[in-house]
Amino acid sequence: MTLSFTWLGHSAFLFEINGRSVLTDPFLTNNPLAPVKADEVPADMILLSHGHGDHVGDTVAIAQRTGALVLSTPEICGWLAKQGVQNLWEGNIGGSYYGDYITVKWTHAFHTSSLPDGSYGGTPTGFIITIAGKRLYFAGDTGLFGDMALIGEPHLDAAFIPIGDKYTMGIEDSIAAIKLLKPRHVIPMHFNTFPPITQDVIDWARRVNNYTNATPVVNDPGYAHVID
Ligand code: NI
Ligand code: MN
Repeated sequence: MTLSFTWLGHSAFLFEINGRSVLTDPFLTNNPLAPVKADEVPADMILLSHGHGDHVGDTVAIAQRTGALVLSTPEICGWLAKQGVQNLWEGNIGGSYYGDYITVKWTHAFHTSSLPDGSYGGTPTGFIITIAGKRLYFAGDTGLFGDMALIGEPHLDAAFIPIGDKYTMGIEDSIAAIKLLKPRHVIPMHFNTFPPITQDVIDWARRVNNYTNATPVVNDPGYAHVID
């Protein structure tokens, strides 16, 4: 089984395995880096880390078009239900969803959360995703925290972490995060979408190579990368 991911800009990724498609934080409309439109992206599952508009994004439209199962916290699932999304599975930090091809475990994230209409968004989260024998960590929006060392146990094949600064970790803290997580591969996200979170990703990748044991994976939006 070949597991690949494609960056869709910001914190949106498309994971593909055996004809199944899993999206994270599908913010495509108004995302200048998005290589696909909300009305064409495939989805069997959507993982939503928190309620901010740059993460909820096109979740409602994609879920209604595809019937994808949306995983998020009770607060966000309750809000999505009010928007007409029916295929929802709620969980919370420490809990897991056990599907037939994927396991998803909620982790904490140090950030804030509210829905686009101002509704209470609960607490923000990240996810540990086990799929195709690979263990992946999608950090969501977060600052650096020491428990990343626990998330890294027993191992991570890949970690998806924000590097944009201002609203999340920046480059310097991301290097500390990688030292705690110890992933085999690390993928940057939540940068270059808008001017306030512009980063030199080549400088980031150089620092990852110099100061950590992880391999940085920097693909332009729209190009699938196989996770070996
Ligand atoms: Ni946010
Ligand atoms: Mn964000």
